[in-house]
Amino acid sequence: MRRVLSVAAMLSLREEARSQNLTVGFVPTMGALHAGHGALIAEAAKRHDVVVVSVFVNPTQFGPNEDFERYPRNLELDEATIASYGGTVMFAPSVAEMYPDGPAATIDVGVIGTVLEGRHRPGHFNGVATVVKRLFDIVQADAAYFGAKDFQQTLVVKAMVAQQELPTQVVVLPTIREHDGLAMSSRNVYLSADARQHATVLYRALCEARNAIEAGERSPTVIEQKMADVLSTVRDAEVDYAVVRDSATLSDIDRLTSGNSVVCLIAAKLGTTRLIDNDVMQIP
Ligand code: PAF
Repeated sequence: MRRVLSVAAMLSLREEARSQNLTVGFVPTMGALHAGHGALIAEAAKRHDVVVVSVFVNPTQFGPNEDFERYPRNLELDEATIASYGGTVMFAPSVAEMYPDGPAATIDVGVIGTVLEGRHRPGHFNGVATVVKRLFDIVQADAAYFGAKDFQQTLVVKAMVAQQELPTQVVVLPTIREHDGLAMSSRNVYLSADARQHATVLYRALCEARNAIEAGERSPTVIEQKMADVLSTVRDAEVDYAVVRDSATLSDIDRLTSGNSVVCLIAAKLGTTRLIDNDVMQIP
């Protein structure tokens, strides 16, 4: 395992890999690694000679009242986790290394970054697109691995890659869940014992939607109501949205029709912790 802290060192490591004809897989993270990240690292390790995992809490994707300052940071633990899943390089730059001109979001991916999460977290996805572009330019990976839990983020990254004509392939792997269905997330550590118990309500609402669709329900309004009903069983869940959308564009749909790919998406606050989850379905 190599620990790389500067952009210059990362670029020279990249050159070294190229000169040896080694393929490079990349897993961008903000640290606080869990088994969901582990699955991405392990898959990248199966497919590539070198697996770079970045650990960088990106200031430009946090709103003024969000958790940038208190976001969990533990480089030693992250380094051990990366090694245990087969990662070979931890790239952990400082804010000054990543943003020599000062932290600012300079990439705009348009409407895909302004709906749903983008509406509740203005500017968030421009920050994500900006840092991912910078990381892709530095690491120059053959492929980068993202978790499906951040579904809208995966669409934003794909849009940014198309807009900027980057050569890195974007690979999206399934959400990893706790035994009771809660999607793994670095922010789960914020949940109080009560909120942790109640947090499974997002997964239960998604299951309700899936069951309804599998049973033949084709009205988005009915499906959304079913999710809302499940979510309303937890009094302290403050729901931002629970919707069914087209999975490529996140636009509204009038009716689910055969051949559609749709995604059910939920965002809700449990106590002080905001959680998101989703489920993609092909309509038979
Ligand atoms: O999903 C995350 O952890 C972050 O949004 C990412 C992609 C590493 C960019 O900072």
